[in-house]
Amino acid sequence: SVRSMPRETPAPNRIQNRNEPAAAWQREPFLNTPDSDASIAANREWANGIRTRMVDSQLGKQTVAAGTIDTAEQLRDVIARSVDAGPAWRALGADARAEILHRAGDMLEARRAELLEVMGSEAGKLIDQGDPEVSEAIDFAHYYAEQGRALAAIDGAEFTPAKCIAVTPPWNFPVAIPAGSTLASLASGAPVIIKPASRSCRSGAVMVEALWEAGVPRDVLQFVQFSDRSLGTELIAHPDVERVILTGGYETAEQFREARPDLPILAETSGKNAIIVTPSADFDLAARDVAHSAFGHAGQKCSAASLVILVGSVAKSKRFRNQLLDAVRSMRVGYPWQEGAQVGPIIAPPEGKLARALTTLGEGEQWMIRPEQLDDSGKLWRPGVRSGVAPGSEYHLTEYFGPILGVMLAPTLEEAVEYVNAIDYGLTSGLHSFDEAEIAYWLDAVEAGNLYVNRGITGAIVQRQPFGGWKKAAVGAGAKAGGPNYLMGFGDWQDAPLAA
Ligand code: ALA
Repeated sequence: SVRSMPRETPAPNRIQNRNEPAAAWQREPFLNTPDSDASIAANREWANGIRTRMVDSQLGKQTVAAGTIDTAEQLRDVIARSVDAGPAWRALGADARAEILHRAGDMLEARRAELLEVMGSEAGKLIDQGDPEVSEAIDFAHYYAEQGRALAAIDGAEFTPAKCIAVTPPWNFPVAIPAGSTLASLASGAPVIIKPASRSCRSGAVMVEALWEAGVPRDVLQFVQFSDRSLGTELIAHPDVERVILTGGYETAEQFREARPDLPILAETSGKNAIIVTPSADFDLAARDVAHSAFGHAGQKCSAASLVILVGSVAKSKRFRNQLLDAVRSMRVGYPWQEGAQVGPIIAPPEGKLARALTTLGEGEQWMIRPEQLDDSGKLWRPGVRSGVAPGSEYHLTEYFGPILGVMLAPTLEEAVEYVNAIDYGLTSGLHSFDEAEIAYWLDAVEAGNLYVNRGITGAIVQRQPFGGWKKAAVGAGAKAGGPNYLMGFGDWQDAPLAA
């Protein structure tokens, strides 16, 4: 029975690929790790095994006690151990580190099922959305391993990795984001202290275990957790912590800056992203991409679409409207342990601005689909769509991070771009158009880090779509994550090289 499947059975499509001559990373050029192929019946059974175990662990309500810190003194010990471990890790050299990181990719692959189980049970991540996230973490391992080698090979300038790097990831990508920040730091030659989000501690712990298992020494990668916020300030303020990699809210980046104005922060912060649809678009494609970008992981992605802006005649087109509403209405809402769910739970019952966005309308707005709370947990919501969002309104400019989409109308593409650029953040942005001149104009005029044409705006792929924002979506960030030159910001340079 599925219940008796061993914990770490690889997805069957991986077993079938076993006879390939080399792992993806060993082949040139870099190849992305494949996701588990759900068209293979055995893989669906494999996923159901994970769902069964999710239910069991929900009943067990597991927590991790590892790395719990209560006092500033304990934290200072952790930092001291990190600083002491740094020189040996640096001296190991980029080749040896790369070998360990490649192995880390393999260990993450070996724990794919376990990672999916934990992400689902503690963070509500659906299996088909967690699966590409695990692939992304594996990609980071192989990609940064080679980037570490490239960094060491830069001629004519000396790079000294940070003495110690603090990694503070969010709960919404509880594996890929902590893995990416950690692996990049390690590849640069720096030791890491990772403090996962408290809501997704177990996912972070499993990821870290995979890296230890691959041969990253425990003092080089330390896992800590604490609930006392003053310890967070203590960590950031410590002079031996020479970089912090933050993915989280803009306000958190501000707090870090206040705690330590001279500390280089590499932060991906908030987003409020829009997809523009012009009359030349393929409406079927656009409706699907908008729905998925808005409601994947229940809208809880910094990259999610929160607005769709309809240009010119699209506004009057019943066809696009109906396609979109059908696409949204047909999304099945459910928990990760329910097969076929497409929109998962939100992390906690909505509060504050998200609660407001799910229940109330601004002036001139109407519900096209009214959000609906589906059970007593307060976490399961049928996604909502509102029309009539006015330029400059609260909905237009606010990040909500939940299952809600707003529709705006713009007479021209130029005006649509103005609405996008009026937003403080500039992380992802989308255009659905098959008109070359429109595409060229938009690419030039829109202010965002990741631009997608005729594609959804979430799920950037390592190396092909390096990820990073503009304006209030990025604080102090240098090169984009998952792209060339990212590691160059992880230490100090003498005779800095020209930017490649
Ligand atoms: N990197 C994640 C995405 O592209 C946030 O959706």
